[in-house]
Amino acid sequence: MPTIDNPTQKTLAEQGVQNADQVCELFAQVRNSFDEQLARPADEHANLMLRVSWTGRKSGILTQVAENWLRKAPASLRTVVGKQFNELKAHIEAGLDEQKQRIEAGTENVALAEERVDLSLPGVIRPIGSHHIIRQVFQEIEDIFVSIGFSVVEGPEIETPYYNFEALNIPEFHPVRDDMDTFYLQLPKGAPGPLLLRTHTSPVQIRTMEKQLPPVRVIVPGKVYRRDNPDATHSFMFHQIEGLAVDTDITFCDFTGTIEYFVKQYFGANVKTRFRPSYFPFTEPSVEFDVSCIFCGGSGNASGGGVCSKCKGAGWIELFGAGMVDPAVYGFVNYDPKKVNGFAFGMGIDRLAMLKYGIDDLQVFFQNDVRFLKQFP
Ligand code: PHE
Repeated sequence: MPTIDNPTQKTLAEQGVQNADQVCELFAQVRNSFDEQLARPADEHANLMLRVSWTGRKSGILTQVAENWLRKAPASLRTVVGKQFNELKAHIEAGLDEQKQRIEAGTENVALAEERVDLSLPGVIRPIGSHHIIRQVFQEIEDIFVSIGFSVVEGPEIETPYYNFEALNIPEFHPVRDDMDTFYLQLPKGAPGPLLLRTHTSPVQIRTMEKQLPPVRVIVPGKVYRRDNPDATHSFMFHQIEGLAVDTDITFCDFTGTIEYFVKQYFGANVKTRFRPSYFPFTEPSVEFDVSCIFCGGSGNASGGGVCSKCKGAGWIELFGAGMVDPAVYGFVNYDPKKVNGFAFGMGIDRLAMLKYGIDDLQVFFQNDVRFLKQFP
């Protein structure tokens, strides 16, 4: 059953058409429907399809009108139907021809426009991005350590207190947690927790040793978080590279040699280095590692007179914390503290980048001002 009531498939009598006015009205409907279809945007193919559906000899609409209306018209209406039919036919054919011409002309124009090359136009500039300066420094430091046999591993930024503190020999009551305490996550009721944003990359020491037996030689680049207010040297998020080497025969000399090798590769062969005693619960002994000031060459004096503003006249700049792994830590990862020994260090990448490139405000790393970033292509 046809779903659309198509008047061209019924005779005039079947539609109750009795006079000339009704005939004209019926033809006007068909003509409107053609005009509507002709008005839609078309290409050559659409024009052909339209032509077939309206003027196709077998089942085109004009053929149906001729069959059902004209041939079967009562004698009284035959003249008017014939006249209307001829007009409709001419209208449809003219419409289709005009559309075809427009399409051909249009196609021509588009093709011409496409082929035309305007040599006076400026070229298309596609700006090429580059790695962020922090990413570049990470890469530089990773390359140095990889070249002496370290591999690069990563760990989660959301940690449990166990990995961030306890397994690093920092029990809940330990006062060092006061400096380190951090952002705890607000968890839905009943969710296992607590969870926190790691305050350092040291938890990955534990995660690495849990997964593998010695020898271990890894560095761990990543983001860390602390409850610090932003200023020229502090940020609630910054970057660290952790280092860990554990084996059966690692001495303080290996530790010193490795660190010194790194510092001279990174800052240049002329820098001097020194250790100062320090304290971390997960290293024993612990040290702070300093380099001679890169800005005043270690003299403590500014080039224009007065004291060097970077090292405040000391001639030394504090670089990072490190030490021999505290045997207590091995207990948490089922290593035998009597058989293994090792060293660990944790350096602030932002600080290392500031020192090497003479940047005096940490915040510029995070403001993403292209004028700053472009200076490190
Ligand atoms: N995790 C320490 C910090 O963030 C640095 C450190 C790492 C010290 C490894 C010793 C050994 O301050």
